[in-house]
Amino acid sequence: MRLRPPALLSFSNHLSKGISGNIRSGRETSSGFPSFVADMSTVSTEKDAVPVRTESTQKTPKPLQIAKRLEKFKTTIFTQMSNLAIKHGAINLGQGFPNFDGPEFVKEAAIQAIKDGKNQYARGYGVADLNNAIAERFKKDSGLLVDPEKEVTVTSGCTEAIAATMLGLINPGDEVILFAPFYDSYEATLSMVGANIKCITLRPPDFAVPIDELRSTVSRNTRAILINTPHNPTGKMFTKEELNVIASLCIENDVLVFTDEVYDKLAFEMDHICMASLPGMYERTVSMNSLGKTFSLTGWKIGWAIAPPHLTWGVRQAHAFLTFATSTPMQWATSVALRAPDSYYVELKRDYMAKKAILVEGLKAVGFKVFPSSGTYFVVVDHTPFGLENDVAFCEYLIKEIGVVAIPTSVFYLNPEDGKNLVRFTFCKDEETLKSAVERMKARLIKK
Ligand SMILES: Cc1ncc(COP(=O)(O)O)c(C=O)c1O
Repeated sequence: MRLRPPALLSFSNHLSKGISGNIRSGRETSSGFPSFVADMSTVSTEKDAVPVRTESTQKTPKPLQIAKRLEKFKTTIFTQMSNLAIKHGAINLGQGFPNFDGPEFVKEAAIQAIKDGKNQYARGYGVADLNNAIAERFKKDSGLLVDPEKEVTVTSGCTEAIAATMLGLINPGDEVILFAPFYDSYEATLSMVGANIKCITLRPPDFAVPIDELRSTVSRNTRAILINTPHNPTGKMFTKEELNVIASLCIENDVLVFTDEVYDKLAFEMDHICMASLPGMYERTVSMNSLGKTFSLTGWKIGWAIAPPHLTWGVRQAHAFLTFATSTPMQWATSVALRAPDSYYVELKRDYMAKKAILVEGLKAVGFKVFPSSGTYFVVVDHTPFGLENDVAFCEYLIKEIGVVAIPTSVFYLNPEDGKNLVRFTFCKDEETLKSAVERMKARLIKK
């Protein structure tokens, strides 16, 4: 017997139950698609139970079930958003994945690997050639020489690197500091671990780290700080000064750092800085990354974690029992991708800068207050000039009345109120799509 997943419950049903204030997270799901979620309490009663087929094919309502550690996470409604977008013919600038394909040479490498019979389980911590390619790439990016056999672990996307790192290195009750807004798998994974989350909010216009608040939050009780730079959803890149302060607090208090660097090749306004490369930091840092964003292949889900052997031990132990190994032919193809010539990265940046200019200039012309984004393919705006009560109401209006999809940012905060004035657009779409979305907004979105 199968329960219909919560994702299939209707978006409008959730809205009609007044969840606007309750909508919490949306994680950029494994498909890379940011999701909305509704309070689980709205779906867990007998009244809301979904029909299931019994052997006698009768429909019997059963209450949805979930373990306590995930109870507070809300029903994903990204499918409904997507459906709503299709129903209203909306242009999707919400989804955090490209609407164009990855490079031919990488796809060809995957096809070749399959044809060459590289199709059985890979070595648990990665195909040797990929571990080598990751170490070579990391040397170019950070200047650090790492041992591909002892310090690199290949995972199923960065999402699994995050999960393996948290599960392998954090004990129940350990204090972990997050910066909000945050990619929501952090909170859900920490909740599965049973960690004690401390949250520091980054605020517009520049989303700078509030140094004094950070200083008063970090203590000997802190086990780890999680940093995402370039940062989803704001596009903020942590500055050298901010990273230096975080580093010295970590060294002083013996704290680990987990860095999510999946957008490191989409650094437009400043150079990306690897936390692990700061003095004294490598030994306490797990650097996480993946193929998806850099090679426009978000569906491949090949990621990795780089850490000194004493931290890699925990990461690998968790990884061994989460997935054990990751898709073999895709690992072979990823090793080809990571050895792409520098010109690939130059072109990638040039393309994205052109897209970004179209979207940012367009959003300004529409009348949004656009906050500066230094990296990633996201840009955050203040929607309040258009008179909607909050980000969720605005996004719903934008889909239904204007025909464009954006993501409400309240889903990225512990306290959704903090994000109620902000929505996120992505420019990982072809230029025609971006221009059409801007034209729709220019023509139909009126300031109040
Ligand atoms: C900040 C951040 N980290 C991690 C991921 C997930 O990466 P992967 O698809 O490699 O699991 C995403 C995807 O959107 C992201 O935005």
